[in-house]
Amino acid sequence: MDNAIFQNIIRKLSETLSVQRLQHSLRVSELAEALASHHRADPFQARIAGLLHDCARFMGEKELLDYCRERKIAFDPNMEKIPGLLHGPVSACMAQEVYGCSDPEVLSAIGCHTLGKSGMSLLDQIILVSDYCEIGKKFSEAGHVRQTAWNDLTLAVIKTLKGKMIWLLTHDKQIHPDVLFAWNEHVISGKPVSRGMGRSGRKEGEGS
Ligand SMILES: [Fe+2]
Ligand SMILES: [Fe+2]
Repeated sequence: MDNAIFQNIIRKLSETLSVQRLQHSLRVSELAEALASHHRADPFQARIAGLLHDCARFMGEKELLDYCRERKIAFDPNMEKIPGLLHGPVSACMAQEVYGCSDPEVLSAIGCHTLGKSGMSLLDQIILVSDYCEIGKKFSEAGHVRQTAWNDLTLAVIKTLKGKMIWLLTHDKQIHPDVLFAWNEHVISGKPVSRGMGRSGRKEGEGS
C-alpha cells in the first residue's frame, strides 16, 4: 500500500521536475527515511516529505510569486527580492493541493526545508539536514554533516545552518530571518527538539 503511494508520487513528480531534481528528491527521501528510523521519528512521514520537498522547484521566480499571491500564502516582503526561497512554502501548498498530502507535520517539514524556522520539529530537522547533505552533494561539508546526522542531529542542524549562512555571507546575499531564528534557537538557547506525533500518533519515547 505504502509503496503504491510512493510510486504514484514519483510518477507525478516526474511530469514536472527535471531528472536531476527528481533524483535529488529521491536521495533526500532515502536519507530522511533512514535518519527518521535511526532517530525514532516516523520513516513514512520522512520519506513522503523528502519526496515532495521540492515539488514546486520547476517554477520560475515570477511563477512562485504569482502562486503565493493567488493562494494568499503569506510571505515576508523581502522574499520579493529572493523569490526562489518561496519554493519551500509553495511546495508545501502543492503537496497538499496536487499530491493530496494533508499531514501538517509533513507539510511543515516541506515548508521550512530551505530556511529552517523557530521551533523546528524532529521531522523538520531531518528534512532540512537531508536536503543539505544527501549523498549527491559533493562539497566537503556535506559529508561531515551526513556523518554527524547519525550521532547528533542537533549538531547536524547547526552545521547545516552555519553552512548556509557562510555561503550567503560569502556571496553578499541577505540572510532570511527564519534562518537566524533557527540558528539562535539551536546555538544560544539550547531549546530541546520538539517531537512530532508521527503517523501512528505515538510520541517519541512511548512504547508501541
Ligand atoms: Fe529546496
Ligand atoms: Fe532540495
